[in-house]
Amino acid sequence: MAGPVAASAPGKLILFGEHAVVFGEPALCTAINLRTEVFARPHQEWLVDGASLDAPKYRYVKAAVRRAWSDGPLWLEIRSMIPTGAGLGSSAAVTVATLGALQELQNSLDPPAIAREAFEIEHEVQGRASPIDTSAATAGGGVLVRPEESDDLLWTITKDTRRWCLHRCTLPDLTFVIGNTGISAATGPLVAGVKERVDASPKAASMVREIGHITMDGLVALQRKDLVAAGQLMDRDQELLNALGVGHPMLDRLVAAARKHSYGAKLTGAGGGGSMVALTDEPEKAARAIREAGGKTFLVHPDPVGVRRLP
Ligand code: PMV
Repeated sequence: MAGPVAASAPGKLILFGEHAVVFGEPALCTAINLRTEVFARPHQEWLVDGASLDAPKYRYVKAAVRRAWSDGPLWLEIRSMIPTGAGLGSSAAVTVATLGALQELQNSLDPPAIAREAFEIEHEVQGRASPIDTSAATAGGGVLVRPEESDDLLWTITKDTRRWCLHRCTLPDLTFVIGNTGISAATGPLVAGVKERVDASPKAASMVREIGHITMDGLVALQRKDLVAAGQLMDRDQELLNALGVGHPMLDRLVAAARKHSYGAKLTGAGGGGSMVALTDEPEKAARAIREAGGKTFLVHPDPVGVRRLP
């Protein structure tokens, strides 16, 4: 029997713009150097990691094969370095890497098609999603999502009446410290809570717009390697996210601990628990402070490589 083909895809870290992106504001994300690999080859029955494809933890893999494969059963194996439930894009990476492996079995990788299909799968499995995670896992590197097309467009993705324009943006090789609270919170209700506030209060709506400005200013600051300015923008973003109701006391604790050794720190992803990110040139010290405050830590770097075939 032929050997397996394999594809890998990176996790992601949202640097600026979570929640505001749901209202059409820009968001900035980077792929990170924690990756998921998916191995696939034809087999006499469906197996994933030697088990049934129906297990809940393989729901993204199952949705991917259902949409993108019609040629008979496969043997699949998943190897992931990305912690699950930490807001680091593990579901997007496994979805994108699965689609990558399936495409490699058929012919060759088509990243824009993978980005669109992976977004549809996340949408199907999660109910609602923006395409940031899946596009970062597909494209690698820095990804800026905006409502309009501008220079360095990667692809556009549409769903119902919504449209996202995903752009390539170059980020310097920084170390980011992630602090995970260990508290998992579903994204859907957090997004719904922000919408309620925005609908009820012009002040909340103006906070969302301010996050949009912070995202664009933060991108410029990071590209200039002005870490002081980028850190201050992260701190302000954190204040606004808290005011929009997506903070958590444990996130505040980890953010405060990290800031002693950082330019700035904020929650990353949906909030309500989940993870925070610190920008620092003393990653070990910041990580120790986060651990002492009760968090789990990961040191990550931007990963310029998106979905790819493994040799
Ligand atoms: O939980 P994550 O890391 O996938 O981030 C959610 C980001 C939100 O802006 C809150 C929602 C979205 O779909 O963009």
